[in-house]
Amino acid sequence: LQLEEKPLPLETKELNGILMTKMMSDNWDKIWNFQAKPDDLLIATYTKAGTTWTQEIVDMIHNDGDVQKCQRANTFDRHPFIEWTLPLPLNSGTCPAGPCGTVTCAGRFAPGRRVTETISKGNWKGIIYMARNAKDSLVSYYHFSRMNKMFPDPGPWEEYIEAFKAGKVLWGSWYDHVRGWWDAKDRHRILYLFYEDMKEDPKREIQKILKFLEKDISEEVLNKIIHHTSFDVMKQNPMANYTTIPTSMMDHSISPFMRKGA
Ligand code: A3P
Repeated sequence: LQLEEKPLPLETKELNGILMTKMMSDNWDKIWNFQAKPDDLLIATYTKAGTTWTQEIVDMIHNDGDVQKCQRANTFDRHPFIEWTLPLPLNSGTCPAGPCGTVTCAGRFAPGRRVTETISKGNWKGIIYMARNAKDSLVSYYHFSRMNKMFPDPGPWEEYIEAFKAGKVLWGSWYDHVRGWWDAKDRHRILYLFYEDMKEDPKREIQKILKFLEKDISEEVLNKIIHHTSFDVMKQNPMANYTTIPTSMMDHSISPFMRKGA
């Protein structure tokens, strides 16, 4: 299946009342049965909560602050989305489609708390969850849906607000997601972070991640990570800002992926 043969936006299909792409729904069993290896780390987020930011921080930590190594590939190849099962050149490494090959998978695992529980009981080394407040998530998601031609058209802003509140957007309800992972966090090895905290004091929050990953680094490397993962630097980083994706799929002239970051 080539993208050219498939008009955008992607077909969607509900699963357990949650809107997903058809391919995600159809592949759900594979995702459900994904066997994490003990070294695998999961980064879980609701859409637009700072997934890419967390991925860059984790990659910099894993590579001891080596900026060049972190530019070896696009974010979505360095940390494939576990449930984004699209046979595109974009996600050659997507986990459910084959061996993951990286230590980290970024996954949303939309359908409800049962999934949260199942996933968090898996063999993961750990799960880093990043939450962002509903208002900024909503605004960011709206603009992202306008520029991301793979997603359903968000329609007028007022209608989109209602769709978001009702959870009738891809990956379902923001409320269920942040709440489901919050409830799971004390029962499993989950580091629950907030976008707003990361914004307020990246040093403090990155130190939490370091502790969670049982990793020791020098002050110099830590400062390098803070710098390299700042909004302004990431906005200019083609391996992190999604500008390598064809304009037919993501049109940054409508709204850049790295939009506001505030
Ligand atoms: P905005 O649209 O509000 O700017 P995700 O990676 O989950 O899709 O989230 C994307 C959101 O995170 C975007 O929000 C993007 O600008 C923001 N973001 C990405 N990297 C960031 C960084 N280093 N600092 C602050 N915000 C960042």
